[in-house]
Amino acid sequence: MRNLTEIGGRRLPFLRWSAVRMALGMRHLTTHWQVGDGREEALAQHVVRTAREGDLDDVIRTIDAFSYERSLMMHVGDEKGEILDAAIRRAAPRRVLELGTYCGYSALRMIRAMPAGGHVYSVEFLAANADIARRIWAHAGIGDRVTVVVGSLGDGGATMAALEDEHGFAAGGVDLVFLDHDKNEYLPDLERIGARGWLRPGAIVVADNVRVPGAPQYRAHMRERGGAGWATVEHETHVEYQSLIRDLVLESEYQPG
Ligand SMILES: C[S@@+](CC[C@H](N)C(=O)[O-])C[C@H]1O[C@@H](n2cnc3c(N)ncnc32)[C@H](O)[C@@H]1O
Repeated sequence: MRNLTEIGGRRLPFLRWSAVRMALGMRHLTTHWQVGDGREEALAQHVVRTAREGDLDDVIRTIDAFSYERSLMMHVGDEKGEILDAAIRRAAPRRVLELGTYCGYSALRMIRAMPAGGHVYSVEFLAANADIARRIWAHAGIGDRVTVVVGSLGDGGATMAALEDEHGFAAGGVDLVFLDHDKNEYLPDLERIGARGWLRPGAIVVADNVRVPGAPQYRAHMRERGGAGWATVEHETHVEYQSLIRDLVLESEYQPG
C-alpha cells in the first residue's frame, strides 16, 4: 500500500508541526542526537515486533510508516532516500563509508541498492544509536553486510586507525561516502578522508541536509572546487517526512588532477 501522504504516486504538499518543532529543537538534537522521548528505542521494538523478519523492503517500509504516522525522526527518509538510492545504483560501490548511522535506515537503503558483496561501514558516535541500528539490521537480515564503528573521524585518530587496522580501509578503497552526521564536520571529515587517500578516483560523496540545518562551508567548498577536484550536482528536495520545507542533497564526484 502506498504511503498515506501520496495520491496516485504523487506526494501531497504538507507540513507537520512536529517537523517545525524538530527543526526548532535542532540545537538539542545536534548535541544529544536522540530526540529525547525514547522514540528511537520505540522504533527498534516496533520494527522487531511488526516488520517481516528477513524482509529488507518491509523493514524500510515499516520505518517510513512509523516516521510519518507516529514519531517524526531524522532518517534520510523516503524522498531524499531515492536520491541516495540512485547515487548508489550509479556508483555500484563495493565499500561505502557512512558518517552518522542513527537507527540504521539509510544503511538499509544503501544495502538494498548495492551490488551483492558490497559492504557499508557506518561511523556513529552514540553507542545507543549504534545498538538500535544493529538490532534493526539483524531483523532485516543484513547484519553481515553492515558494520557500525562507534566513534568519529575527528576523535584524534582512534576511529580512523580502527577503520584501517580492523576493517581494511586503505588508499583508493572507498567507492562512496554518505555524509549525514554533524553538519559542521562535513568539510573537516572530508579533509580527513582526503588526507588518508581513501577515496578512489571517481568516488562519489553524497551529503544530506546541506540546506537544513545547513552545511554552508561544505557547499561553498564543493562550488569552488567545481572542475578542479570535484564535480557536484545539487539535488533540490525536501526535509524528511514532509514536503514544504526545502532541503538540498549534494552528490559530488571525486576527480583528482
Ligand atoms: C541525521 S542522523 C543520521 C541519519 C541516518 N544516516 C539515516 O538516514 O538513517 C545523524 C547521526 O550522526 C551521529 N553523529 C553526529 N555527529 C557525529 C560525528 N561527528 N561522528 C559520528 N557520528 C555523529 C548522531 O549521533 C546521529 O545518530
